[in-house]
Amino acid sequence: MQRVLGRSKMLVQQVKNGDAKGALGDVRSWVWSENQYCGLSRTFADDFTPAPANVKLHAEPLDDALAAKVFDFDGLGERDATYLERRKRIWDAGFDGGFVAMAGDEPAYLQWLIPPRQNKQVADYFGPLFPLDDHTLTVEGAWIPPKFRKEKVMGEGLSLVTEAAAAASPEADRARCFPELANKGAVKGSASGGYVIDTVRTDTWRLGRRTVTFTPTTAEAVGY
Ligand SMILES: CC(C)(COP(=O)(O)OP(=O)(O)OC[C@H]1O[C@@H](n2cnc3c(N)ncnc32)[C@H](O)[C@@H]1OP(=O)(O)O)[C@@H](O)C(=O)NCCC(=O)NCCS
Repeated sequence: MQRVLGRSKMLVQQVKNGDAKGALGDVRSWVWSENQYCGLSRTFADDFTPAPANVKLHAEPLDDALAAKVFDFDGLGERDATYLERRKRIWDAGFDGGFVAMAGDEPAYLQWLIPPRQNKQVADYFGPLFPLDDHTLTVEGAWIPPKFRKEKVMGEGLSLVTEAAAAASPEADRARCFPELANKGAVKGSASGGYVIDTVRTDTWRLGRRTVTFTPTTAEAVGY
């Protein structure tokens, strides 16, 4: 029920942002759709050095002061305003593990790596989208402001925030993300942050009911 309410609020906000087309697409997909997501994980014990971004980056935890900078909707197009609104809802919902890769004092990449102690909140908020366990960080909510896209920010940025999150959550030994399989920037960006493709998740919606399946795979098998 909570998720239905949350989803309705998101739709209203999406229409307010001027993205009525996107909202209609979301409603359609709840009625009848099948979407695939690419599961990638990074094991903290494995050494990894990312290619450097085109801008110098460092990682900072997301806090109130930084959130005021990150959630800046000025000048965003309708699609990006919707993306950022969804990330602000994750922040407002009280999830831990928000990190920002900063270029100087400017936010260049936002990402949550939610610790396992919040698994119940993850399941309540996102639904059955993650195979949760007590030693894995859930990676969600990637966002690069338009100004910092195509600058190789995701690989080094994700690697930096993963290392910061691993240090902050010693109970975890790996992190997992599930970008849309067709979102090449997000899948390749995650791989360039040291994450390895290992799973395909298939979400099937039929008249508002969702089933979620996880199938082991390889990068080659899914065309990456
Ligand atoms: C997804 C996102 C984080 C990616 O960041 P980005 O800076 O735009 O990524 P890039 O364009 O540099 O692409 C990353 C990699 O994917 C590759 N790529 C991107 N689009 C591609 C395409 N259509 N075909 C093939 N490769 C593609 C790039 O060449 C790059 O490869 P490299 O690491 O080997 O150089 C960013 O676009 C974003 O914030 N989008 C909005 C929110 C979003 O989609 N979040 C992800 C949800 S999981």
